[in-house]
Amino acid sequence: MALELTPCDMESDLYVPRPAQVVLVEPQTSMETLVRLRLESGEDLGHVPGQFVQLYLPAIGEAPFGLASSAGKPDASFDLCVRRLGDVTGAVHKLQPGEHVGVRGPFGNGFNMDELKGFDLLIVAGGIGLVPLRSVIQHLAEHRDDFEKITVLYGFKAPVERLFAADLEAWAQTMDVRLTIDRPHPDWDGHVGVITTLFPALEVVPQRTKALVVGPPIMYQFVLTECRLKGLVDDNILMSLERRMRCGVGKCGHCQINGKYVCTDGPVFSFSEVKHMWEAI
Ligand SMILES: Cc1cc2nc3c(=O)[nH]c(=O)nc-3n(C[C@H](O)[C@H](O)[C@H](O)COP(=O)(O)OP(=O)(O)OC[C@H]3O[C@@H](n4cnc5c(N)ncnc54)[C@H](O)[C@@H]3O)c2cc1C
Ligand code: FES
Repeated sequence: MALELTPCDMESDLYVPRPAQVVLVEPQTSMETLVRLRLESGEDLGHVPGQFVQLYLPAIGEAPFGLASSAGKPDASFDLCVRRLGDVTGAVHKLQPGEHVGVRGPFGNGFNMDELKGFDLLIVAGGIGLVPLRSVIQHLAEHRDDFEKITVLYGFKAPVERLFAADLEAWAQTMDVRLTIDRPHPDWDGHVGVITTLFPALEVVPQRTKALVVGPPIMYQFVLTECRLKGLVDDNILMSLERRMRCGVGKCGHCQINGKYVCTDGPVFSFSEVKHMWEAI
């Protein structure tokens, strides 16, 4: 018999982590590692690209991480990619396949993939901004015929900081993938310069283009300017914001920016929505 949740149960559901098991750990760089998880119930997480989960490590704590894979994998697994910073992320880097964690979510709005159909897409990723965008790009690759021209710009500081090298090669088969590193490096013969230096060579038809931008805060103002110079209207520039979070479900107020909750109103916003919020970007 199906379990019937009362409203009270559904509310507590938001706060109780679901048990999940680590199925794969794959270091990407010295600072970032990919962790593949599966809910112990066997259910698919059922997320939308751009959503996030709260990952709970018993006796250590909880932290939000963007989903790094598209939904609906045959084995119901999903990926996170975590940069080592403090207690929780440090413990994530020590996880081994078979270990158990807790997952709350998926939370947040994510990117509305249906609204992107029929548009040319300009995806701009700086550093670990590629992590949440990987869920989008995987979805696009899996439904390639539903979307028009796709351009992926990815900037990182040095060759050793490149994430998802094999994915980037695979995506380049059906999308225009352009990489750049900040400064010249002996192991790099590709483009050199910050990510905005990739813009002048782009051919963009602004009326039919949407940009999806995720990166470090410093990147936004420069990339947003370049998008506008290419003629994109602010409604068609989408970005994912990051704020310190606690509950992840719109209750504690930690993630609030000028009255908007990044955890529930976002993390994906159009530039139109946030341009008047001085502390948003
Ligand atoms: C919606 C969302 C999605 C995220 N997705 C990812 C992801 O995909 N991969 C990933 O590696 N990280 C992601 N983060 C950031 C991640 O949640 C933090 O790195 C993590 O909470 C740090 O926890 P900790 O216990 O290891 O470090 P703490 O001990 O809490 O902090 C260590 C240091 O990191 C700084 N720090 C902590 N959190 C943040 C933050 N959000 N922004 C800037 N500095 C911070 C602290 O000020 C401190 O200096 C995301 C954050 C949000 C809000
Ligand atoms: S994290 Fe609690 S309201 Fe957003």
